[in-house]
Amino acid sequence: MAKDKILITGGTGYIGSHTVVELFNAGYEPIIIDNLSNSNIGVLDGIKAITGHTVIYENIDCKDYNSLERFLEKHPEIVAIAHFAASKSVSESVENPLLYYRNNIVSLLNLLQLMPKFNIKNIVFSSSCTVYGQPDKLPVTEESPIKPATSPYGSTKQMCETILQDYAFANKDINVILLRYFNPIGAHPSGEIGELPNGVPNNLLPYITQTAAGIRKELSVFGNDYNTPDGSCIRDYINVVDLAKAHVVALNRVIEGNNKKNIEIFNLGTGSGLSVLEIVTAFEKATGVKLPYKIVGRRPGDIEKVWADTSYANKELGWKATETLEDTLRSAWNWQQKLVEKNLATTNG
Ligand code: UFG
Repeated sequence: MAKDKILITGGTGYIGSHTVVELFNAGYEPIIIDNLSNSNIGVLDGIKAITGHTVIYENIDCKDYNSLERFLEKHPEIVAIAHFAASKSVSESVENPLLYYRNNIVSLLNLLQLMPKFNIKNIVFSSSCTVYGQPDKLPVTEESPIKPATSPYGSTKQMCETILQDYAFANKDINVILLRYFNPIGAHPSGEIGELPNGVPNNLLPYITQTAAGIRKELSVFGNDYNTPDGSCIRDYINVVDLAKAHVVALNRVIEGNNKKNIEIFNLGTGSGLSVLEIVTAFEKATGVKLPYKIVGRRPGDIEKVWADTSYANKELGWKATETLEDTLRSAWNWQQKLVEKNLATTNG
């Protein structure tokens, strides 16, 4: 019998690729569409090296309804979609809002419109803790209020959540899970897949590993005058493999019909917050590499502190982040070193 196929949009991206690996490990057949706008075809080799599977892949932009439809016609065994494909840079979204509204909203609308036609009943959506803004109370639960978005990127995540809520309300036979990611970091322990940002990294961990590798001169720590114990911002950093495993559990849940409502929301974090300076110290300790850094002014739009209450995901999904920070930071460094070996680290920015 053919295995259940799961469509992974954005499957060559950072979180998508790690989820593809975990789905193979769980006995599913993930299949990928991606337009490679922010990823590299070489990721497919990494997936093969880890799992031994040659994954079905097509270069399709989710904004292209007709191509999407043709692809779905060819794969009637698809039982669920994990929708990762989206633009994700906060700063780019401020400069080019229409790009973000078009990419992130149109792609979701196309998928939702096609699901009933192909009898696909399940979708897991990549949302973000960005929907909470600066929470009044910490840690944030799934019931915490949604705050006005501080960037077009954040708006698209909120809008997509609303679209999915309305869609689930109108289509009771469709199951939706919204996964609100906190800050994903690290790489697969094999070093075969990881995060490969375009140009100068915006996010903390890639900037740290590129600085440690000598590609960047020093890390700028954005602010040490926040209302936190050491003055730097606090986030909930979650290992990307732990995050990928949560997708497998969420997909199992809807495919097997174990969900309690036809739309459910889960926070995916570790449940504890770490400051930027704590991450710097932990990175040096985990890798033995000295990290040059300087304190600079605050980055506009940064949230002071946020971390997740993960008890609902722990209880309902039976999932918990288990990787240690030390292993996670080592995995990020291992991946960075492999990129340097492969001469990939300096070709993109
Ligand atoms: N930081 C630095 N120096 C850097 C980069 C980051 O000090 O060079 C600090 C930031 O100020 C922040 C922390 O490291 O305090 C984490 O910053 P990231 O850019 O890695 O992550 P953010 O929390 O800003 O953003 C992430 C995702 C977004 C998402 C957001 C939700 O990248 O997609 O979480 O809060 F919207």
